[in-house]
Amino acid sequence: MRHFQYIDGELTAEDVPLRAIAEAVGTPAYVYSTATLERHFTVFREAFGNLPVHIAFAVKANTNRAVLATLARLGAGADTVSEGEIRRALAAGIPASGIVFAGVGKTDAELAFAVGIGVRQINVESAQELDRLSAIAAAAGREQAVCFRVNPLIGAGGHAKITTGHGASKFGVTLAEAESLYARAVTLPGVRPEGLSVHIGSQIVDFAPLEAAYRRMVETVLRLRAAGHTVRRLDLGGGLAATYRDDGTPGPDLPAYGAMVRSVVEGLDLEIELEPGRMIAANAGVLLSRAVVTKQSQERSFLVLDAAMNDLIRPALYDAFHEILPLREAPADRPVAAADIVGPVCETGDTFAEHRQMPPVEPGDLVAIMSAGAYGFTMASSYNSRLLPAEVIVNGDRWSVVRPRQTWDELFGTETLPDWL
Ligand code: LLP
Repeated sequence: MRHFQYIDGELTAEDVPLRAIAEAVGTPAYVYSTATLERHFTVFREAFGNLPVHIAFAVKANTNRAVLATLARLGAGADTVSEGEIRRALAAGIPASGIVFAGVGKTDAELAFAVGIGVRQINVESAQELDRLSAIAAAAGREQAVCFRVNPLIGAGGHAKITTGHGASKFGVTLAEAESLYARAVTLPGVRPEGLSVHIGSQIVDFAPLEAAYRRMVETVLRLRAAGHTVRRLDLGGGLAATYRDDGTPGPDLPAYGAMVRSVVEGLDLEIELEPGRMIAANAGVLLSRAVVTKQSQERSFLVLDAAMNDLIRPALYDAFHEILPLREAPADRPVAAADIVGPVCETGDTFAEHRQMPPVEPGDLVAIMSAGAYGFTMASSYNSRLLPAEVIVNGDRWSVVRPRQTWDELFGTETLPDWL
């Protein structure tokens, strides 16, 4: 079931024509579908059958409070990497008991905040962090549950910049170091080791490296238990791919993933935690944009949109592919032509697609950049002093602006001039 589709020739989000939103809110604007968020979360949870799992949505993929609240209502926790993300999760109604705090460089202030509100778990990534956390939690009179993020030296993912499980990665500790940190944590005040966590990369299509990583973790769990330690949790991270191409390529086989996880942890009496981000949110969002100019260079045809790399940086940063659809469906016999679809920012890298075959789009026409619900708005900036785009959520035939477009005052009104200038 797709919730972004053409109905009577107009691209809609659930029951709302995207044109109506673009006309009312302006462009660029992100639009999210409640039904897609709910469906992806539910299908993911159901993949694990009767295995109880804690699903902590990776907030970095989409931080909008309405999106988080939609998932919270279904029982989602939050995987967070900063105090800001923890605050957003709390503000969206996700209890501290559902929040996992991860990240390779947590500051003392962030650790103190997380401990203070009693997050479910802190994923520790270094010996130094363990010592700092122990001191901070002990001083606060708390005992914080921790997992150790391991680097199983198995990488995977759709692009080198989002692959984390290799020897040159800054993330996690080796399995051997995790064992020694675990033993050390047992002797420290303020921390209670609960298990291990892993995340080997993002946009993963093939489950084999994930399974290999999980099996390595299980070996370590068994060694820790043999050494007399209590190990209750395994946090298996996120990383499952979303389908970005509308060419019939199937998405990840979630029941197969669930079955693989169940077989790896069977009989081990472990609480399983998962941190999906992209898989839940990518196809739950689009970026609406209006064509501004068409032009020709010596070698190429260009379609210049009013959205740019500052609104959606994935193509510029990772050469990521996003479908781009006109809001008004082109007749099947309309000829297609190849154009580079670009934004107005002053960089050649501000390119959404090169040589994209699509029916001609004229200045003033509206388009949707698809699969933009994950790592879209969250990675947006106001580069070139462009206003951050609006965000809208749709539910059936209802829609609401859940973050208005940034204002000029918000853009630079808090800047001050020194009195000596
Ligand atoms: N858990 C941890 C520890 C992570 O670092 C990440 C993503 C996730 C979970 C969620 O991964 P997902 O299920 O979304 O693959 N900006 C890039 C993706 C960066 C992913 C960073 N970590 C992109 O737009 O492709």
